[in-house]
Amino acid sequence: MLLFLCAKNRFMLLLVLILLQHQPWPSGASDKNKAMVEQLQRHGVITSTKVAEVMEAIDRGLFVPPAACASPYLDRPMPIGYNATISAPHMHAACLELLLKHLQPGMRALDVGSGTGYLTACIALMVGPEGRVVGVEHIPELVASSIENIKKSAAAPQLSDGSLSIHIADGREGWPELAPYDAIHVGAAAPQIPQALIEQLKPGGRMVIPVGTALQELKVVDKKLDGSVSIRDDTSVRYVPLTSKDAQLHAG
Ligand SMILES: C[S@@+](CC[C@H](N)C(=O)[O-])C[C@H]1O[C@@H](n2cnc3c(N)ncnc32)[C@H](O)[C@@H]1O
Ligand SMILES: *[C@@H]1O[C@H](CO)[C@@H](O)[C@H](O)[C@H]1NC(C)=O
Repeated sequence: MLLFLCAKNRFMLLLVLILLQHQPWPSGASDKNKAMVEQLQRHGVITSTKVAEVMEAIDRGLFVPPAACASPYLDRPMPIGYNATISAPHMHAACLELLLKHLQPGMRALDVGSGTGYLTACIALMVGPEGRVVGVEHIPELVASSIENIKKSAAAPQLSDGSLSIHIADGREGWPELAPYDAIHVGAAAPQIPQALIEQLKPGGRMVIPVGTALQELKVVDKKLDGSVSIRDDTSVRYVPLTSKDAQLHAG
């Protein structure tokens, strides 16, 4: 194509190409991620500096597949294949705020239905390398891609040092190997709260779990130090079901 242009135009085109290469364009991704976090702060969803810092550090753009065909920073859930979604940023933020006191440095957390790995990565930054977060997801392809996503993110060092791991398993059984947990996050709606998850909660620990089928409530489950359990409703929500792999892939 260059050949068909006169010398002067050829020079101009080269100049433009050189300028394009050296222009310090804003990277876009992290700016938009920061703007997303600021919007959640303005709307009062993010209230702590810790959650703001962590959601700024983990670029959501790394976790939303291009097939979603939309900006990863929009405040809505997006399809990630396998009849699953990445939850909306305001849900991630709300759950991190609800779990804040139970995701202190050194604490232990379980993320059930870890999907893209986004929230698992955020949790890893909250508990730090002295803490431990385990993600459990029943679609092997999502586990594989979530690990690749996390490798590109600020939580990558914790994948290498072993303070973050993701496993292929049925999350309704929890992950007994590392129980009890200070915090349990469930990213899919259960018809009722699985007993195994209540058992794997540490006294003093908290679980956040959407419960219901058509109508769902985000439940906050607190296990008191004496082992008794109190449950309250936070907000109405809409999540994909916590179900069997077969039911999810052949959902009617
Ligand atoms: C709404 S998605 C949320 C994923 C993740 N929190 C995110 O935002 O990327 C729910 C995830 O739960 C998974 N899931 C559903 N039932 C499950 C089960 N019984 N065990 C493990 N994972 C399950 C789905 O495959 C899906 O990835
Ligand atoms: C999702 O569920 C539909 C039924 O609702 C099914 O036909 C389809 O194969 C499922 N998609 C995937 C990717 O498993």
